[in-house]
Amino acid sequence: MPMDVVILAAGKGKRMLSDTPKVLQPLGGVPLLQHVLWSATALNPRQIHVVCGNRAEQVKAAISQPSLNWVEQAQQLGTGHAVLQALPACDPQGRVLVLYGDVPLVSPHTLQTFLAATENDPVAVLVADLNDPTGFGRIVRDANGRLVRIVEQRDATPAELAITQINTGIVVCQTQHLLNWLPKLQPHNQQGELYLTDIIDMAVAAGLRVGSQQVADPIETLGVNDLWQLAELERAYQRRYAKQLALAGVRVVDPNRLDIRGTDIHIEAGVTLEPNVMLVAPVRIGKGSSIGPNVCLQQVEIGEQVTVLANSVIEGARIAAGASIGPFARLRPGTVIEGGAKVGNFVEIKKTVLGPGSKASHLTYLGDAIIEANVNIGAGTITCNYDGVNKWTTLIKSGAFIGSNTALVAPVTVGSNATVGAGTTLTRDAPDDKLTLSRSRQLTVPGWQRPGKQPTTDA
Ligand code: UD1
Ligand code: CA
Repeated sequence: MPMDVVILAAGKGKRMLSDTPKVLQPLGGVPLLQHVLWSATALNPRQIHVVCGNRAEQVKAAISQPSLNWVEQAQQLGTGHAVLQALPACDPQGRVLVLYGDVPLVSPHTLQTFLAATENDPVAVLVADLNDPTGFGRIVRDANGRLVRIVEQRDATPAELAITQINTGIVVCQTQHLLNWLPKLQPHNQQGELYLTDIIDMAVAAGLRVGSQQVADPIETLGVNDLWQLAELERAYQRRYAKQLALAGVRVVDPNRLDIRGTDIHIEAGVTLEPNVMLVAPVRIGKGSSIGPNVCLQQVEIGEQVTVLANSVIEGARIAAGASIGPFARLRPGTVIEGGAKVGNFVEIKKTVLGPGSKASHLTYLGDAIIEANVNIGAGTITCNYDGVNKWTTLIKSGAFIGSNTALVAPVTVGSNATVGAGTTLTRDAPDDKLTLSRSRQLTVPGWQRPGKQPTTDA
């Protein structure tokens, strides 16, 4: 039977107290709605319909998935009303699977199992047993265990409130029944809304069987109604990611202190991630590398056996095998660190190639520079790459030695195996193999005395 997926995403998300539409709030750096779309797409449905309303334009603009059918629900009159808006575009011979834009972690596997188990049911509900069912619709069964009704928290009697089996909100129903039932919904409830859950009563009244399936991991069914739930779900998501990494051979030192944003993340077995590492996709880390505590990597490619020490912030960079970075290094976009090179503490590098085996060990800024192999950059060296209008390039050829506290005024070239004396302000090219320096001569003043205290005159 063909299947349409309808994702409900029109709600205000009032309790979020946020200007961002709820379904665009990020989970693992990706909008909630995008997570749901991934799961829906994996089911290979006939069509995915997204019911949107609040800030619909903003939601549509943020989601790039092609061939979605966006359905506008101008007024949010309830979950039943929301599904009704998408119904004309669904195949009347098929089934409709209802998902929620704010229930992001439901997995394709869970949905496939649910769909297969309830294939012959006119209508079926995915249910979960929760220790704390507060806020959810409760599953009411008769003496024979048949599902007869779903009652919302606000409409429930004390006895019904004690039920711990809940409606995850995920429902599958034959489209012909929805076409019949949804127009008949009445807002006879506390909220005055048209509840999708009332179709259960209608099925029971029509003598139809209501199927149900229990979800294995309740985390998959948790919805986001406020920022605390989002925070809890974020941690659950991150722990799941950390577990996947650990089982794939990555040493995650503390799974509660790892943050991964986005999905284009590839970490080889034998990598160590110390506490408080933040990875923002795309990130690649090669075998045997170790990422120290409090390190942020964004759009970074790291080769094998690289050491990144604590508190380094790296964005838009490529680091080749055997290099060592940090602690407290900052690598900005366009940086390439070649094999075995070393970047030490308080070094900032931008749009620069640091050649194989070269070192910038302390307190340095390198911008718009090409540094060849086996160059030593002394402490306090600065490339003066910016004249206030334009950026200029510094070229340092292989084997050069740059003395401490050198200012390289670009454009300028340091020849191969050249030595630049400490404290130099280099404004012209330094030739190969020679010592070049600019320094005022040191002198010692004969006969000079320290000033003494002036005698004070007492009044
Ligand atoms: C709903 C279910 C409840 C279930 C819970 C699971 C109903 C009546 N209740 O309650 O049984 O336990 O989900 O999380 O179905 N939406 C629209 N248009 C509307 C109203 C809602 O698109 O007019 C969307 C919301 O954006 C949200 C979803 O539908 O994504 C659920 O709506 P919400 O108001 O959060 O329902 P709950 O009270 O959580
Ligand atoms: Ca909800």
